[in-house]
Amino acid sequence: MSQLTLNVNGQDHKVTVSDGGMPLLWVLRDLIGLTGTKYGCGIEVCGACTVMIDNQREHACVFDVSSAVGKKIVTIEGLSPNGSHPAQIAWIENQVPQCGYCQPGMIMCAAAAMKAGHHGAEIASELKNLCVCGTYPRIKQAVSKL
Ligand code: FES
Ligand code: FES
Repeated sequence: MSQLTLNVNGQDHKVTVSDGGMPLLWVLRDLIGLTGTKYGCGIEVCGACTVMIDNQREHACVFDVSSAVGKKIVTIEGLSPNGSHPAQIAWIENQVPQCGYCQPGMIMCAAAAMKAGHHGAEIASELKNLCVCGTYPRIKQAVSKL
């Protein structure tokens, strides 16, 4: 067992893990209680588990928790205090979600692309996450305004 400190959404969290190779996703959801980040495939295909680590888009399902120590992790819960990030506003205005399961990952991908200075069609081309509900047209419409 080892105790690690993770900075998530601007707050330090002490967690005890049995293995430093545990996926960050398990720690976020099961130990810290931030369940906005979703599990889909576990093999870096669907993007449901997307978070930002030091402003970079990462798949938490394959990111070793020990590698996240000393970095700034942002999850969907910490993207904005009240749903006011431009991507969140665009998602609401375009009524993007259907079941909603993939949407935190979609929004975090769009937000990471915005952090990198990308806009509109550039963001759309980088957004390769999967949505089994087929909300792609509304996602494209939402990111066109970013
Ligand atoms: S759950 Fe991580 S990419 Fe699918
Ligand atoms: S809205 Fe249902 S999986 Fe995307």
